[in-house]
Amino acid sequence: MLSQAENDRLCRVGPGTPMGAVFRRFWLPICTSDRVTAGGAPRAERLLGENFVVFRTGEGKVGVLDELCPHRGASLALGRVEDCGIRCIYHGWKFATDGAVLEVMNNPAGKRLPSLQTPSFPSIEAGGVVWTYLGPKEHQPAAPHFAFMDFPEARRVLLRVDGNYNWVQSLEGGLDSSHVGILHSNAARPGWNGTSDKKVGALDDTQPVLEVEDTEFGYHYAALRQGGPGKPGNVRITPFIMPSGRIIAGGALQGAENHTIVFEIPIDDEHTATYTVRYGNSSLSLESRLRETGFDDPEVYSQEDQRLLLTRANYNRQNRAIMDKSWSGLNGIAFEDTVIATSMGPIQDRTKEHLIASDIAVARLRRRLLDSAARVERGEDPVGAHVDTHLISSIDAPAPPDGAHWRTLLPNHRIVRAAA
Ligand code: FES
Ligand SMILES: [Fe+2]
Repeated sequence: MLSQAENDRLCRVGPGTPMGAVFRRFWLPICTSDRVTAGGAPRAERLLGENFVVFRTGEGKVGVLDELCPHRGASLALGRVEDCGIRCIYHGWKFATDGAVLEVMNNPAGKRLPSLQTPSFPSIEAGGVVWTYLGPKEHQPAAPHFAFMDFPEARRVLLRVDGNYNWVQSLEGGLDSSHVGILHSNAARPGWNGTSDKKVGALDDTQPVLEVEDTEFGYHYAALRQGGPGKPGNVRITPFIMPSGRIIAGGALQGAENHTIVFEIPIDDEHTATYTVRYGNSSLSLESRLRETGFDDPEVYSQEDQRLLLTRANYNRQNRAIMDKSWSGLNGIAFEDTVIATSMGPIQDRTKEHLIASDIAVARLRRRLLDSAARVERGEDPVGAHVDTHLISSIDAPAPPDGAHWRTLLPNHRIVRAAA
């Protein structure tokens, strides 16, 4: 349970907030690369409660600028994209990707251009995503590098899903192993209603033992499940990567060779853009990914707008008539997760919750985030700043033999503190 003040401190990320200052120390996805074509339409994007325009010049350079024109405030998302910049349609001021004023159409002949720069933000493209950095120049980290970026395009598939909920509730859902064998019973325990003996991995054990260790990038935790008589136990290790990333292990649910990295990116306090990249050694398609997630239903998810069409007033796709066969009455794992996050309201009221032992990873998440906020307030780096992230991984595997510690399965994770 958190006090109202703690919940606000945890969830709110706008300018001037403690958690907003933490996020502003990391590179963050602002849109998928395919949405900004050379010379094509600019995009209005909201990130951490601020508004930006993202565009790709005719010459192919991506720009991220304040959305509103510094002349008299028209939206540059209405602008004309030219070879080397973007031009406001109101009075024709033209800006380079670094914010420099290149031309002023309504400037009297012979007058100097205004010597201002509109706020601009660095951008990098990697893994099919445009990343930007909104924080102080002197703290700008090296370019983001995650394992998925090293896979060829045919072996990764990217999905952006915008939803109507605060980022912490979707992140907490992703770091809560104990719901996997329950909410996702259809996929994880196909025999849950006694109709089949089929078992998927060890997820039939709905009471995993959870162990958490802090690492330099955030923490990782293991869900340890019993294997049943004569069978080895199962270990599922999930890393939490500051400020809001995680990697979901392959295994029975998504193919043993595949991983899924997920970034919960706050659009603002009440809206979240979830970027997921499934990557691995098999070839992967968007179609199969959409089917698996349940987002192939155009009444659930708009592929055009990359957003969920679900609201609290509209659980339109829960089918109670099939709940004897379908645990949740909802179609698809990711859809089940997003319905739950939406059901909590725009910002979950954590003054009314009751955590138990199985919520240990959720509690640790809050501690790592709130510690980071305090560190930044003291002038220090947040947890995970300047850490090389490309060796971080996840795993779903039989328990290591001879009683070896589960940590030995992922030796590249540098532990900074053993579990309390
Ligand atoms: S408001 Fe953009 S040029 Fe005038
Ligand atoms: Fe889930």
